Amino acid sequence: MPFADIDGGICPGERRALYQLVASLKPARVLEIGTHIGASTLAIARSLATHSGPGAHLTTVDIVDVNDPTHGAFARLGLASPRENLMRAGLSDRVTFIAKPSSEYLRETDDRFDLIFLDGDHAAPAVYREFAQALNCLTPNGAILLHDFYPDGRPLYPNGSIEPGPVVAAERITAECRGIGFLPLGELPWESKQGVRTTSLAFATNCVGAVRRGGMQVH
Ligand SMILES: C[S@@+](CC[C@H](N)C(=O)[O-])C[C@H]1O[C@@H](n2cnc3c(N)ncnc32)[C@H](O)[C@@H]1O
Repeated sequence: MPFADIDGGICPGERRALYQLVASLKPARVLEIGTHIGASTLAIARSLATHSGPGAHLTTVDIVDVNDPTHGAFARLGLASPRENLMRAGLSDRVTFIAKPSSEYLRETDDRFDLIFLDGDHAAPAVYREFAQALNCLTPNGAILLHDFYPDGRPLYPNGSIEPGPVVAAERITAECRGIGFLPLGELPWESKQGVRTTSLAFATNCVGAVRRGGMQVH
């Protein structure tokens, strides 16, 4: 699989990980928050087309119109637009693009998803709010996957950088919502980036139980 064919967005090793996760979970409906240049979008759509049923679909939401040459990051980076990349891969009909803030989309939608991938605004209050709203948009066995999850706020990569928001949000969620936990995926069987195998992908656990108990109040 050509996982290195778009520069930017999530790294090639994590695109491959997303592809494999979707291949094994076989979700029919996936929601992605944070389209950006569509690197993760393409990996998820490819896997849905190959491994899920014929009607399997991805909805991807970004606060900017990612396919607009003025606003989309692709043009600044000299890339093809996310829509163009999907078209070239024969996957246009697998993906719906939504240009609006995630909070608005999650509040308004009646759709329910088997897998929700959070890779939008990484500030802790935004992730906390998105997570609470996402719980209400899951199918009964649905799962939430986070990107840029740095356990204990420690660096995962040789360059020492961290993105603190998602793990800070997760600590608040586990403190407030009984039963929910977070499972960092740890090491991939292949390189993620900077010469290491570590991934910042993490699943939320026991979302189903939390939804059964009424989910979380969105403050
Ligand atoms: C880290 S990038 C996502 C990378 C993408 N998954 C990829 O692999 O190409 C984060 C994206 O989230 C979007 N974003 C930021 N705040 C948002 C919000 N409140 N609602 C929806 N999208 C948001 C940004 O515009 C940006 O495109």
